[in-house]
Amino acid sequence: MTFGLAHSMVSEPALRFEAVSKSYGAGEPAVTGIDLSVAPGEFVVFLGPSGCGKTTLLSLSAGLIKPTEGRVLLAGAPPVPGQKTAMVFQSFRLLPWKTARDNITFALPHLPPARRRERADEILGFVGLSRVADIYPGALSGGMKQRLALARALAREPDILLMDEPFASLDAQARELMQTELLQLTTKRAATVLFVTHSVDEALLLGDRIFLMSPRPGRIVETIELPFPPDRLSEDPRSHPEFTRLRAHLWDSLRDMVLNDPGSDFYGRGAGERVS
Ligand SMILES: Nc1ncnc2c1ncn2[C@@H]1O[C@H](COP(=O)(O)OP(=O)(O)OP(=O)(O)O)[C@@H](O)[C@H]1O
Ligand SMILES: [Mg+2]
Repeated sequence: MTFGLAHSMVSEPALRFEAVSKSYGAGEPAVTGIDLSVAPGEFVVFLGPSGCGKTTLLSLSAGLIKPTEGRVLLAGAPPVPGQKTAMVFQSFRLLPWKTARDNITFALPHLPPARRRERADEILGFVGLSRVADIYPGALSGGMKQRLALARALAREPDILLMDEPFASLDAQARELMQTELLQLTTKRAATVLFVTHSVDEALLLGDRIFLMSPRPGRIVETIELPFPPDRLSEDPRSHPEFTRLRAHLWDSLRDMVLNDPGSDFYGRGAGERVS
């Protein structure tokens, strides 16, 4: 019987952008001509220079803003804020006057009160924060705050997890640990993830697919299907020969875009030089 397989092959994408443009006012749009579709369970990364519209794409996916042109469809319907997606912000956005546990219960108003605490404790255990459930964010380390912000998003059981440079403010060690942890969590949950980063290495390490974006107006200039084995945890892609090649390729593309973008602080600098 091939029915199951055939069925899964035509199954609806988790997310679709159809000819999407977004302008915030008069003048050049922030993003334009965006066509993409993300399969359920896929981990996609948006990589691009500052201001190219990465956060805009996440906000469109969450339904926090509407496209000026085209359509965004989440499992076939326009996204409604707070439903089906959860966002992890770079700045964490934790409530300092609430304990770790209550930062999570607060995000679960749709559950009966007794269930909120249960769910919060479950998820705190899942991200290894049970011991600090009654502690306030001010007393947590950066890595713990980051895990708490992630836990709060996961507790909502989103169909799609939207992550906006979540590890940018962490030190190199915490970042590396969080990357591994995120892979573990999303593998276990078969989660669909949209992940924004400035880091080429992070994009290569985490993604199933990378969308490389151009400076404003942001477009997708290249889509890279990563050839690494799906089990990143037992086989580090950094030892794969393609990792080195793709890393150099992405850096070259980003450097060229930034040096040739009149809107960039680095416009025209270092032409002809190669820093690698
Ligand atoms: N609310 C807004 N009103 C007006 N312009 C906006 C607004 N939000 C974003 N923009 C503009 O849209 C463009 C894309 O912004 P966006 O925040 O999506 O970029 P980004 O790729 O996330 O940048 P960064 O890497 O610096 O976070 C920028 O030029 C920005 O100034
Ligand atoms: Mg941004």
